[in-house]
Amino acid sequence: MFWLGLDIGTGGSRALLVDSKGSVRHSYTASHEEMQMLRPLWAEQHPDDWWRASRLAIRGVLEAAGINGSSVAGIGLSGQMHGLVLLDEANTVLRAALIWCDQRSQPQVDFINSKLGADKVLRSTANPVLTGFTLPKLLWVRDHEPSKFEAIRHVLLPKDYVRFKLIGEFATDVSDASGTALFDVAQRQWSEDMVSSLGLNPAILPKAYESSEVSGTVSKQASEATGLAPGTPVVAGAGDQAASAIGNGIVEPGTVSCTIGTSGVVFAYSEKPAYDPAGRVHTFCHAIPGAWHVMGVTQGAGLSFQWFRNRFAPDSGYDELTAEAALSPAGADGLFWMPYLMGERTPHLDANARGAWVGLTAKHQRRDLTRAILEGVCYSQKDGLEIIAALGAHPSLIRLSGGGAKSELWHQLFADIFNCPVATLESQEGSAYGAALLAMVGTGEYASAVDVCRAAIKEVSLKKPQRQAAEFYSKRYEIYRSLYPALTPAFQAIAELGDA
Ligand code: XUL
Repeated sequence: MFWLGLDIGTGGSRALLVDSKGSVRHSYTASHEEMQMLRPLWAEQHPDDWWRASRLAIRGVLEAAGINGSSVAGIGLSGQMHGLVLLDEANTVLRAALIWCDQRSQPQVDFINSKLGADKVLRSTANPVLTGFTLPKLLWVRDHEPSKFEAIRHVLLPKDYVRFKLIGEFATDVSDASGTALFDVAQRQWSEDMVSSLGLNPAILPKAYESSEVSGTVSKQASEATGLAPGTPVVAGAGDQAASAIGNGIVEPGTVSCTIGTSGVVFAYSEKPAYDPAGRVHTFCHAIPGAWHVMGVTQGAGLSFQWFRNRFAPDSGYDELTAEAALSPAGADGLFWMPYLMGERTPHLDANARGAWVGLTAKHQRRDLTRAILEGVCYSQKDGLEIIAALGAHPSLIRLSGGGAKSELWHQLFADIFNCPVATLESQEGSAYGAALLAMVGTGEYASAVDVCRAAIKEVSLKKPQRQAAEFYSKRYEIYRSLYPALTPAFQAIAELGDA
């Protein structure tokens, strides 16, 4: 038998199949349409495009494996977090989803803080409310599109829309719900306080399950659309970061990962809902009952590299660009990249932050610009790591995954800049893999996420920090840290111009 993990990412939907040992056997990705950016810092995708890509990915992976749906024992879902999917009475999508990196809702964040008090929000949800989270996006629709707001009957997260198409039920899981700003993360249930204080109808929220619980089974209609067998159990799954952490084996105290996808996330397991009083890292439910996690998020990690390649080197592959960057000297000849292409969460919580190269000279070439991007993303992730360390996580090793783990150069840069050994894993599949492992737990193949991870996850390549390089980069990191405060007034002034 096989278990299928389906991740609704930003760039595409990926389906993969694991066997009973938890080894990845086949995978298939179907791309999404590019996110629509109608204005700077706005970002939308259409949920029906996710469903189109999911159908293709599921059919694609079944075909690649040469099996039919009856060989799939269970399905797990994961997906980009925080996105706002709105359905009306007929369960029709009301508008394109405002996705995780959309930054338009600062006025709504300010409104929530002034109405409820930032302290109350932190007590009720274990996090400050941020522009990236779902609730202020919902209030943006209320403020700007009142007739659409009136028509809302269901609010869903991205993967949960695909779930609805698969099983016909409205459900989510505790890890993904944690990123809505409507969820009581400590109690693992919707926050009555948040919902009632803002006059929202609690009936619009889906039922929240623990990640490995079965949320329903594939409907006859979905079976026809995907090739899956009717009645196949679909577990609740997890937000992409918690799912990726399962795929990386971050299931025990002391374990920490760094995942470089479009965003970049440092993620630490936590036995309690510990939170940074300044709210610079998120405290969310883990995809394991009774466990939490803290994570620091760089909004534009892989995005920085993707943006640079797509805009300025469309004919070059990522491997070619990183090979070039390896020829640039450490520190890129005094060039720094601030990866704030979509504002920033950790550590600045600033929707108005902007990307920048600082230190350009006429000597710099494309290879230096690329290297500065790779290094800047590492510095930004180190910002998150430092906060997590202050909360008590002192990893002796960090597990690296996502696109960023594919480059030898980037892997070594993480080890040097973190000044910590960094390992990559046999399976580089991250979120979709974690979702499949959750499906194995939910269908009883393994007793727990810890059990399946112990059996299935193997480190393959370890890079240790090089002493001289680590010292070199620690000095540069101090300069990097001085850049954001120096540029904040300019970012603010740019925002006040009203061009964004
Ligand atoms: C996590 C986050 C991103 C998105 C997109 O808080 O916003 O990781 O889930 O991957």
